[in-house]
Amino acid sequence: MTENAPRARAMSGTTGADVDAALEHVRTAEREAGNLPGLPQLDPGWRPGRAAVVGAGTMGGGIAMALASAGVPVTLIDRSTQDLDRGLSRVAANYAASVRRGRLDEAEADRRLARISRAIGLEAVGDADVVVEAVFEELSVKQDVFRAIDQHARPGTLLGTNTSALDIDAIASVTSRSQDVVGAHFFSPAQVMRLLEVVPGAQTAPLTVARLMALGRLMGKVPVRAGNARGFIGNAMLFDYYRESLFLVEEGAFPADVDRVLTGFGFAMGPFTMTDMAGHDLGVESRRRAIATRPESRRYADLDLLLVDLGRLGQKSGAGWYRYAEGDRTPRPDPEMNQRIVEYSARIGIERRRIGDDEILRRCLCALVNRAAWLLGEGIAAKPGDVDVVYVTGYGFPAARGGPLYWADSVGLATVLDGVEHLHRTHGAWWEPAPLLRRLGRANATFSGLGTTGAPA
Ligand SMILES: NC(=O)c1ccc[n+]([C@@H]2O[C@H](COP(=O)([O-])OP(=O)(O)OC[C@H]3O[C@@H](n4cnc5c(N)ncnc54)[C@H](O)[C@@H]3O)[C@@H](O)[C@H]2O)c1
Repeated sequence: MTENAPRARAMSGTTGADVDAALEHVRTAEREAGNLPGLPQLDPGWRPGRAAVVGAGTMGGGIAMALASAGVPVTLIDRSTQDLDRGLSRVAANYAASVRRGRLDEAEADRRLARISRAIGLEAVGDADVVVEAVFEELSVKQDVFRAIDQHARPGTLLGTNTSALDIDAIASVTSRSQDVVGAHFFSPAQVMRLLEVVPGAQTAPLTVARLMALGRLMGKVPVRAGNARGFIGNAMLFDYYRESLFLVEEGAFPADVDRVLTGFGFAMGPFTMTDMAGHDLGVESRRRAIATRPESRRYADLDLLLVDLGRLGQKSGAGWYRYAEGDRTPRPDPEMNQRIVEYSARIGIERRRIGDDEILRRCLCALVNRAAWLLGEGIAAKPGDVDVVYVTGYGFPAARGGPLYWADSVGLATVLDGVEHLHRTHGAWWEPAPLLRRLGRANATFSGLGTTGAPA
């Protein structure tokens, strides 16, 4: 196929009937995400009498709010009075904002806030049926916290960790009850975002998975089972998608071009606006350390490290890929940053070229589809609908397009495979086609034809 093949249908608008069918697919996939073979039936009235959330930061506060909103009393635990004061005032401010915007009446906001109590120290997990840990993303810190939880929690308490990227088994291994430990990956802001990746470790009991799924539904979330591998489902796909976005900018596009094309497709926001929101300094030191030892056989996207060198940490510092006026979150293209990007390309020996919108869309979307096909083949994602649910509910993929794999089916997998094979030949190793995509593409089959049974929990 030619460079532009999946373009025609991807770029052509969709009809009202296409949109209805895509939305119906998402609704069905959300319902089916919870159907995991091999899970025990819980009593339908099962709910925890009390939950504890460890870490009153961005995520812990949001998770406590989501629990309180579902009627579950919560103990929010942190290390010090100051940490708790900061966390709880953020929670109170979030409730006040909901009242101001008319989303919640004041009496209900007060009831929810009253369900959240505070404690210092991990002894306080002792009366909880569910504990969700949301402390710093450092394995040793989480292991210390889980050792203490193991000491104080009652037998049979569900123990969730909100880690984004650490190995669930490494966390569970410091406890005497790995069967009760499970990844509970909420998304930010946790009181709003509907996705919950449920990540069983090697020893996690099916009952623990069933309980976390039920708890997620009680909290109004859409729980999706994901395998315990780097990035689980959503972030593993995001790594490829963002890397491709960075390559496009190294080669000639500007951040605003990529964001415009992806929001034009229907994404809630483009990758450069999104990473400006998240901040660019997360995990930078370990990335810099990894540069020294990584294999030289492939190309790496280090362009974003330039931002940190320039002190452009994102919205929080007033500048990232874009610049931001004081007190205003509108991303504004910044000629100075664009000039730095042009200089960077020259420094790494790339002659910049004009990159068309078709190429931007094709490379970003095919990166998602190919990674998803790898994840399905490896059992990290149990079924295609799960991938679509993760991307629609957690990553701003347009529901009206049905999710990345529904979109790929609508374009035709032979066409998508052709595109990925072409990119593999021209852009190298990151683009190695997933065996599942090869098989389906060659047979002119679809992801949806794989069915919805899923792998055992
Ligand atoms: N921020 C996000 O967008 C996001 C999204 C998904 C998952 N996560 C994950 O959620 C976790 C928390 O992230 P965050 O952004 O809320 O971090 P944060 O820095 O805002 O909050 C962490 C909190 O944990 C507390 N803490 C640290 N050690 C503690 C201990 N020993 N005992 C009790 N409290 C302790 C800190 O005082 C702080 O209040 C991390 O594992 C992160 O990877 C974050």
